[in-house]
Amino acid sequence: MTEEVVDLEDIPGVGPETAKKLREAGFTTIEAIAIASPAEISSIAGIGESSALKIIQNARKMASIGGFESGDKVLERRKNVRKITTGSKDLDALFGGGIETQAITELFGEFGSGKTQLCHQLAVNVQLSEERGGLNGCAIVIDTENTFRPERIIQMAMAKKLDPNEVLRNIYVAQAYNSNHQMLLVDNAKELAEKIKKEGKNVRLLIVDSLTSHFRAEYVGRGTLADRQQKLNRHMHDLMKFGELFNAAVVVTNQVMARPDIMFGDPTKPVGGHIVAHTATYRVYLKKSKGDLRIARLVDSPHLPESEVVFKVTERGIEDANAK
Ligand code: GTP
Ligand code: MG
Repeated sequence: MTEEVVDLEDIPGVGPETAKKLREAGFTTIEAIAIASPAEISSIAGIGESSALKIIQNARKMASIGGFESGDKVLERRKNVRKITTGSKDLDALFGGGIETQAITELFGEFGSGKTQLCHQLAVNVQLSEERGGLNGCAIVIDTENTFRPERIIQMAMAKKLDPNEVLRNIYVAQAYNSNHQMLLVDNAKELAEKIKKEGKNVRLLIVDSLTSHFRAEYVGRGTLADRQQKLNRHMHDLMKFGELFNAAVVVTNQVMARPDIMFGDPTKPVGGHIVAHTATYRVYLKKSKGDLRIARLVDSPHLPESEVVFKVTERGIEDANAK
């Protein structure tokens, strides 16, 4: 995949002042401008909607939006798809052998259902050798709720007989302060992954925990729902691109609230609705069960049957329900 390096200032109609405002609002690439709405650009840059529309149209001409790739190239890329073990054989089986690279896996469920725990475990497991179900890789974590716990990583690393300090050194964590910052961090993650690659290592896992909390908090009320969906859509595509570019697994979490007031239909509609649902390759619903047991259900996967498994969260991390 080749990406030309172009600056926002290269878009006809965008001067240094406008470029600065757009960057500050999280619009750092031509692609981002190309799929923005005129109203969005107009209010951010403080310009009229018709000028904003012209900028968007120019960006579209320059951007490789919906760029086509020949079938043989897609096949070649797909051949490199690898899997990361979750730590539970049953859970791995649910995913068809583990968490896939070049795909987005969405973990959704209520508080305490184990989303963050599974993220921690994957950040450790990606570092395992291939024989042990890992990819000898590093992990990048975009943490939006300040729930990354190095102490927990140490516990999990020791359970795998890995050097905990080494494991911590291979996990890069950034806090996202708001949704724009969160989106910007994907660009930073790209730069970081390239730097790490030059040093001879590979980033094989990108985690966004939680994908939706900032979006949910910032976009309240129906008026802004379309904006939110558009930004989430762009965010998901940026994440997917990262996964393809680095042959990395992308794992995102999405909290849902059980709604006791809804007796029929789906009581656990995730935030982001169809946007997240359609872009994620694998979607797994996690649910608390007795004690340390958790239930995982794979929903609307393109090529795997919908099924359910039980696993558990212990001191050692994620394990099969019957692990001793
Ligand atoms: P939200 O982010 O609030 O939506 O929840 P979550 O789905 O991310 O939940 P999380 O993964 O944080 O799960 C928390 C649960 O994991 C706790 O209630 C414990 O049951 C379990 N857990 C967390 N840390 C430990 C630990 O060190 N040891 C054990 N045995 N269990 C732990
Ligand atoms: Mg969490």
